[in-house]
Amino acid sequence: MEKNKNVKNDQIEASKKVLSEDVTVYQDVLDGKVVISKDNDDDSDEHSFPPKDELKDAKNVEEHLENIKNKCKFKQEYVDSKILLSVNHLKQYFFFGKGPNRYKLKAVHDVSFQIHEGECFGLVGESGCGKTTTGRSIIRLYDITSGSIYYKGYRIGAGSRWNEKEIKYTKIRLNKKLKELKNALNKQEITQEQYEKECHEAKEYAENVIKIQNAKIKQIKYDQSHVDRNLMSEIQMIFQDPIDSLDPRMTVESIISEGLQIQGQRNKAENHKKVVAALEKVGLIEDYANRYPHEFSGGQRQRIGIARALVMNPKFLICDEPISALDVSIRAQIINLLNDLKEEMGLSMLFIAHDLSVVKYFCDKIAVMYFGEIVELATSDELFKHPLHPYTKSLLSAIPKPNPLTEKNRVRIVYNPAESHDYSVEKPKFVEILPGHFILANSPEVEKYKEEIKQLDLENEHKENE
Ligand SMILES: Nc1ncnc2c1ncn2[C@@H]1O[C@H](COP(=O)(O)OP(=O)(O)OP(=O)(O)O)[C@@H](O)[C@H]1O
Ligand SMILES: [Mg+2]
Repeated sequence: MEKNKNVKNDQIEASKKVLSEDVTVYQDVLDGKVVISKDNDDDSDEHSFPPKDELKDAKNVEEHLENIKNKCKFKQEYVDSKILLSVNHLKQYFFFGKGPNRYKLKAVHDVSFQIHEGECFGLVGESGCGKTTTGRSIIRLYDITSGSIYYKGYRIGAGSRWNEKEIKYTKIRLNKKLKELKNALNKQEITQEQYEKECHEAKEYAENVIKIQNAKIKQIKYDQSHVDRNLMSEIQMIFQDPIDSLDPRMTVESIISEGLQIQGQRNKAENHKKVVAALEKVGLIEDYANRYPHEFSGGQRQRIGIARALVMNPKFLICDEPISALDVSIRAQIINLLNDLKEEMGLSMLFIAHDLSVVKYFCDKIAVMYFGEIVELATSDELFKHPLHPYTKSLLSAIPKPNPLTEKNRVRIVYNPAESHDYSVEKPKFVEILPGHFILANSPEVEKYKEEIKQLDLENEHKENE
C-alpha cells in the first residue's frame, strides 16, 4: 500500500514498535488518520485555549476553593436551557508504552457540542475519526483525558489533563516572569523594592492558580467515582457491530436482562416481563428469548441490540452506526423502528454515521467530524443549504443522486487538508458564521465562507424562481 505523504517515517516506526499487536491502529497511522507521538513531546498545542482568570472574579482564594470542594459539579443553566447533554472540549487520548517510550494517540482532540431534550443529533465522519470513541466516552467506558460531559446538568465525566497542563504552564510562566524581573533589575530598569514586590506578587498569583487547579483535579476525581448509577442508566448505547456486540454463549434473554441485573434488579419474573416488552417494542416475539444470537439474521441481531438498550428505559440513546453493517433492504426498517421509538418514548439521540445521506432526514442537527475534531455543525436544513467546510462538501459529493442524469455528472470531491487550508499564520477556531451554524476556520477563511453563503443564497433564489 502506498504510504500517506503526511505521515512521517518515525511515526510509522513508533506505531510498529508500540502497537504491533493492534493492527487497526497501525493501519490508521499508515492512512494518516491518526497521529501518534511521544507523550513528552511539545504539548503547547494541547493547551491552546487561554485560562479563565478565575482569581480576578473570586473575592478571595479561600472562597473560591470552598466552592469547588468535594461535591459533584452541577450546572443549573443547562437544565434551564433544556440542554440534556453537553460535551465540552472533550479530549480522548490513548497511551501506550512507559517512561520515555510513552506514546499518545489523539483519538478525539477537542470536541464540543450540546444536545437539547428531544433532539436527534447526528455525528458524521469517515472511519477512524473518533465517532465511536466520543460515544464510548459519554457512557463512561473510558476515563476521559480532558474536558467535561454534563448530563441533565450533572457532570458525569471529566478529565484532568488540562488542569495538570495548567499547573505545568503556570510554573513555566512564573519562571519566565522571574527571569524577566531579574534582567530588569540588573539593567536597573526597576528598583530593588519594585523587584521584590513584583516577584512576591507573581509567586503568590502562581501559588493560588496551582492551589485552585489542584482542588479542581481533586473534584474531577471525586465526580468520577460518585456518578449516580441511575442517572447513567438513562444513557444507553447501541453498538456499532450487531454481530460482535452480542455474546454468542448467552441467550437473548440473558443478553437483554444483563443491564437490569447489573443495576441490582434480580427478580426473574419481573425481568422476564421487561425483556418480553422490549422484544415486542423492536418487533420480535417472546419465543426468541431462549435462543442464541447466531440463530438470527443481521437485522434481527440489531433489533436485539436495540432491545438491550431499551430494557433500561433510556432517555438518551447513542446509536453507533446502527445500520452500516446491514443489508440495504433492512436499513429502512431499522431507521423506521428507531424513528417510531424516538416518538413513542420521547428519546433524545446521538446518531453516529459515516455518510450524510442517512442523517439528512433523521437528525435535527449534524456535526461533521474529521480527524478527532468537529469541523462544521449546524441544523440539518442549514448544513444542506450552506455546506461550507471542504470536508463537508466532500462528504456531500459522495452521496449518490437519485436522478440518473444528474448522477452521471456527479463529481467526487476529495478532501486534502494540506491543500484546502493554510494555517501557518493563523490557527483555526470554531466560529459561529450564521446563527447556530459553526465552522472551524481562521479569519481569512471566515471571510471566504461568508462570500460563499451569499453566492449559495443567490443560486437558491434562482432555483426557486425557475
Ligand atoms: N481502545 C483504544 N485504544 C487505542 N486506540 C484506539 C482505541 N479505540 C479507538 N482507538 C483509535 O482511535 C481512533 C478513533 O477510533 P474510533 O473507533 O472512535 O473511530 P470511528 O470514527 O468510530 O471509526 P469507524 O467509522 O471505523 O467506526 C482510531 O485510530 C482507533 O484506532
Ligand atoms: Mg466507530
